[in-house]
Amino acid sequence: MNEQIVILDFGSQYTQVIARRIRECSVYSTILPYDTPAREIKKIAPTGIILSGGPSSIYAKDSPKPDRKVLNLGVPILGICYGLQILGHFLGGSIERGLKREYGKGTLRVKKSSPLFRGLPKSMQVWNSHSDKLTKAPRGFVSVATTENSDFAVVQNLDREMFGLQFHPEVVHTPKGKQLIENFVYRVCGCGKRWTMRNYVDQAVDEIRETVGEERVILGLSGGVDSSVAAALIHRAVGRQLTCIFVNNGLLRAREVEAVKDLFGRNFEMRLQVENASAEFLRKLKGVRRPERKRKIIGGTFIKVFQSATKRAGKAKFLAQGTLYPDVIESVPIAGNPAALIKSHHNVGGLPKTMKFELLEPLKCLFKDEVRLLGAELGLPKEVVYRQPFPGPGLAVRILGDVTKERLRILREADAIVVQEMKANDWYYRVWQSFAVLLPVKSVGVMGDERTYEYTVAVRVVDSKDGMTADWVKLPYDLLERMSNRIINEVDGANRVCLDISSKPPATIEWE
Ligand code: XMP
Repeated sequence: MNEQIVILDFGSQYTQVIARRIRECSVYSTILPYDTPAREIKKIAPTGIILSGGPSSIYAKDSPKPDRKVLNLGVPILGICYGLQILGHFLGGSIERGLKREYGKGTLRVKKSSPLFRGLPKSMQVWNSHSDKLTKAPRGFVSVATTENSDFAVVQNLDREMFGLQFHPEVVHTPKGKQLIENFVYRVCGCGKRWTMRNYVDQAVDEIRETVGEERVILGLSGGVDSSVAAALIHRAVGRQLTCIFVNNGLLRAREVEAVKDLFGRNFEMRLQVENASAEFLRKLKGVRRPERKRKIIGGTFIKVFQSATKRAGKAKFLAQGTLYPDVIESVPIAGNPAALIKSHHNVGGLPKTMKFELLEPLKCLFKDEVRLLGAELGLPKEVVYRQPFPGPGLAVRILGDVTKERLRILREADAIVVQEMKANDWYYRVWQSFAVLLPVKSVGVMGDERTYEYTVAVRVVDSKDGMTADWVKLPYDLLERMSNRIINEVDGANRVCLDISSKPPATIEWE
């Protein structure tokens, strides 16, 4: 990667957002721990450096500090919030310790000309979240803009191409923040718009070819966005040297196996090995009711089935995985950094060490939204690229209690109706997830002249940014009415439909 902006992470909850904003400017960015030695950064030869915000006070014992030689690399630097305090602390400014955090909207007034504010109004709304504040500009710096609470909300040293912002330009509550970041990367750092998924395909294909050579690659295809895009990319690079293994665990939604066969097998002409292990999964799940036990059984069985499938697939040197950038960024281990606490709690641990593969992870420098763009670039359809998340344990965690063939059939049919109606009414791509859940509760109904005694289906539709919190979606009544009518009329075994109106927290998105 030639041009890139390095972000030193001081533990802000927004560090990844900064990286994404820069990439949205078609400029590559990487996140490195705050204490990365200057000589390592020099080797990367970044076109600019951003010092992120962070929860610490610069005066706190153990507050994170960079290698101070970073400030002498002769590369443009933008310090954001805590990053501004770093500039102040190391370059001779004064910082006043704030006793409480100043949090919320403020109005920025620009007093001096600055490349950062080219094309921007003299007054704009910004988002503050800081406690300490600069009270004297560092040596050689001047104040460019002020807010109600700060005379040094923006400082600059044009000779050294160093800038500091008290507020957060990366968040949406700073509406002109994106332009400000653009000004930094284009005008100050002189970056061009070189980071596009079209360019990335060429570069990644070359790299994969070089790594893989004549060897073979195996990939576990789940049908989800990440593994599908990884498959399409590796296939573009090495064609039939790639074998995709798709495990049918019997817990998939309606027509899922056929869709994977159609798209990857027939359309892309990939070497696709479908393992039908439904019977084995269902046998092991028989009588199991506890959600965590279900997950363990499904995870363990998956590994076993996948392992023996790789043997049948023939000798391969590489195992491909759809690991994404957020999975590989090291979180900063300091108090107050939410990223240090949030761990993905769901996915079944890695494959056993006895599987001797080299890993191939061609998406590991991409964010999720970039993976979707890459998928589209590689010709994957919208249904795959923008599909909603689906849990690894599948419908087993959407059938409360025992998982049986009959319950799976009922849930599959009901779920297909929910999805069809969401798509037909243009709601599917506007929400995070929309699905049906089967409750092991039977209730009385009437159908024609007959009394029925059947299962209950719950409809769950939620909005979320990352699955960590979620709100239930207020769908129009007529859409809900159609879903309910269709499920009760068309699905044998269900005679009642409920709507789940719980948010996360305290409820979770899945019912188990
Ligand atoms: P919860 O139910 O914890 O779900 O609010 C948050 C997000 O994670 C998905 N999810 C899972 N994904 N294996 C997965 O791969 C799992 O066991 C699992 N459980 C929940 C869920 O669909 C939602 O998007």
